[in-house]
Amino acid sequence: MGICWGSPAESPTGLTTDHLSTVRSNTASNTSSGGSTAASSGASSNISGNSLFSASGGDESYPNGMILPQPNLRIFSFLEMKAATRNFRSDTVLGEGGFGKVFKGLLDEREKGQGKSGNGTVIAVKKLNSESFQGFEEWQSEVNFLGRLSHPNLVKLLGYCWEEKELLLVYEFMQKGSLENHLFGRGSAVQPLPWDIRLKIVIGAAKGLTFLHTSEKQVIYRDFKASNILLDGSYNAKISDFGLAKLGPSESQSHVTTRVMGTYGYAAPEYVATGHLYVKSDVYGFGVVLVEILTGLHAVDTNRPSGRHNLVDWIKPHLCDKRNLKSVMDSRLEGKYPSKAAFRVAQLALNCLGPEPKHRPSMHEVVEALERIEAANEKAVEPRRHSGLPTNQRHSRQQPLHHRSALHPRQDGSRYPPRLK
Ligand SMILES: Nc1ncnc2c1ncn2[C@@H]1O[C@H](COP(=O)(O)OP(=O)(O)OP(=O)(O)O)[C@@H](O)[C@H]1O
Ligand SMILES: [Mg+2]
Repeated sequence: MGICWGSPAESPTGLTTDHLSTVRSNTASNTSSGGSTAASSGASSNISGNSLFSASGGDESYPNGMILPQPNLRIFSFLEMKAATRNFRSDTVLGEGGFGKVFKGLLDEREKGQGKSGNGTVIAVKKLNSESFQGFEEWQSEVNFLGRLSHPNLVKLLGYCWEEKELLLVYEFMQKGSLENHLFGRGSAVQPLPWDIRLKIVIGAAKGLTFLHTSEKQVIYRDFKASNILLDGSYNAKISDFGLAKLGPSESQSHVTTRVMGTYGYAAPEYVATGHLYVKSDVYGFGVVLVEILTGLHAVDTNRPSGRHNLVDWIKPHLCDKRNLKSVMDSRLEGKYPSKAAFRVAQLALNCLGPEPKHRPSMHEVVEALERIEAANEKAVEPRRHSGLPTNQRHSRQQPLHHRSALHPRQDGSRYPPRLK
């Protein structure tokens, strides 16, 4: 996560930190354990007056996606967050990113008669680390973007907590964690993802990006990567983390950002080199994830031999040829994938990774291509053919190198902290 709203030069749509007033601190106004809704609070919102989007609101779920006129979020008290996570106990930690730790929690709503099957609602709570460089602006961006976006392939932000220095975000709990955990995680708990599930995941994520790019105000997501693709119990993919999201430029011009932010290995070359940001910069990141699901290798891994640290630079030449592709396919697939489909995905990845943004496909075209590949291979499972890359190369992953800005490197903790059973 990260943010770029702070600089007026980066706000071509007129958006500024005015958005501070779209959310409010609990300190003075609301510390009740019942919480309240930002959208329904007159004190909390000026977003409709400053509206980025024009669409009707509500809290229903929208199969085709919807941009709400204002965040429809519940305000939680810090006490509620403490109770939900058993005082942020270490065994509730789901993971940790640049913003801070993410905890699994349980909202006990039985008293209010809102409980799901009498057991409360399971949530994921992201708590700002006081040493985080990503901080308040990113938190604010998450609330303003994700709080207003509703789509089956975007993770649902349920609410937030802001009390004095405590900044927390409350999300729906995603049972299967992140795609990153499944592709690169270690330990017996991590089962390799079969081919058809990999396809299902990238199709879901592609639909999420399509929605962002084709909404009335194009949203450039800017941080597309495996760790930001979360999976529900049925491996439906939902994109998370809108701290870096920006409204797209009008017409086809690019944004020029003064701070290049995102993640090494996923960020598009034109963006890294010049700060020019296009919706097609997201398509490049999507191409990197396609290469990751083919190879089971992380976008950046400095433990790999030199010349192989950057996955795309290393693997790209192998994608053009069927035989070469086989030699780099994820060995954890054990050859159980339709080679024709894998080759088509590789060709799609190459298109997404094209050096010229305008020559990359749109995310809508990507969805169509992936759905055609899925339909053609619904039941095709080829027998074991080859072993792919040796296991030691798959597991030699190091911390991804984030490039939040030159001055703001990612503050990572452990990548694979203990998980709740
Ligand atoms: N809603 C959620 N449900 C379940 N697990 C989650 C949820 N949100 C995050 N996690 C877990 O917490 C981990 C850390 O997420 P987080 O977004 O903070 O960091 P990251 O994506 O690794 O890095 P970055 O800070 O660059 O986004 C995820 O990889 C995932 O395992
Ligand atoms: Mg994330």
